[in-house]
Amino acid sequence: MIRSRSGLASLLGRLLVLLAGAWALQVQAAPDAALGRSKAQLCFACHGEQGIAVQPAVPHLAAQPALSLFYQMVQFRNQQRKGGGMETLVAGLSDADMRDIAAWFASQRPPPGQGGAQAERVARGQVLSQQQFCSSCHGARLQGQKHVPRLAGQAQDYFLTQLRNIRSGARVDMDGTMGSAARGLSDEDIEALAAYAASLD
Ligand code: HEC
Ligand code: HEC
Repeated sequence: MIRSRSGLASLLGRLLVLLAGAWALQVQAAPDAALGRSKAQLCFACHGEQGIAVQPAVPHLAAQPALSLFYQMVQFRNQQRKGGGMETLVAGLSDADMRDIAAWFASQRPPPGQGGAQAERVARGQVLSQQQFCSSCHGARLQGQKHVPRLAGQAQDYFLTQLRNIRSGARVDMDGTMGSAARGLSDEDIEALAAYAASLD
């Protein structure tokens, strides 16, 4: 119960402070791609300034959904996911740093598709992708959405390793859905899917 005017005033005052706090949080939470670029200098050596990786074992980050990039960084920071020394590389980043960096890479041009020599494998991968409903989560052109990573144009070596690791459980997935999607795949299936994904731009 509020017994006096001054009681009411102090209650209103506290409410205002709370509202201002919530507003400040929202302002802080808006990711800034330009700031992200300056925070990501360390990352460019492997992932490229525009998010196009220079080695086949390193993933392209360009045009990946920002939320997906953010969650992967969080998983590395929490040591839930390990690989490529990423756990150490992101250890000192705050959530805000990660959102800014994610915004930078998400806003870059997607990697170009690489098809060419493996037409047969690519065709088999496309059929498999439909049969296995990969696009129901990863998007019609495997472009990724929300927390689900982009696969289109992804480096094949990287894709192969990740899908094998997800199938064996060596790489955890955040909600278990990807693990069950991978469980029934053969080695050949995985190779065909990697070739198909890499061919998309
Ligand atoms: C020494 C090379 C190197 C540097 C520097 C580096 N990375 Fe990585 N990054 C990798 C490798 C290798 C992987 C794949 C790890 C694995 O096998 O799981 C990776 C994976 C990732 C992924 C997961 C992508 C996906 O599709 O799941 C993200 C996100 C990422 N790095 C962000 C960053 C950020 C942000 C920085 C800078 C703070 C950074 N990386 C610096 C090599 C590097
Ligand atoms: C039910 C939703 C769902 C389906 C279906 C699905 N995925 Fe995924 N996939 C995900 C999610 C979510 C992740 C991120 C997992 C994580 O790191 O926690 C992911 C991650 C991946 C990765 C790792 C990408 C990276 O950048 O590290 C590959 C490769 C992949 N999926 C391939 C496939 C293929 C191929 C299929 C079809 C056989 C498929 N997925 C079906 C949801 C799905």
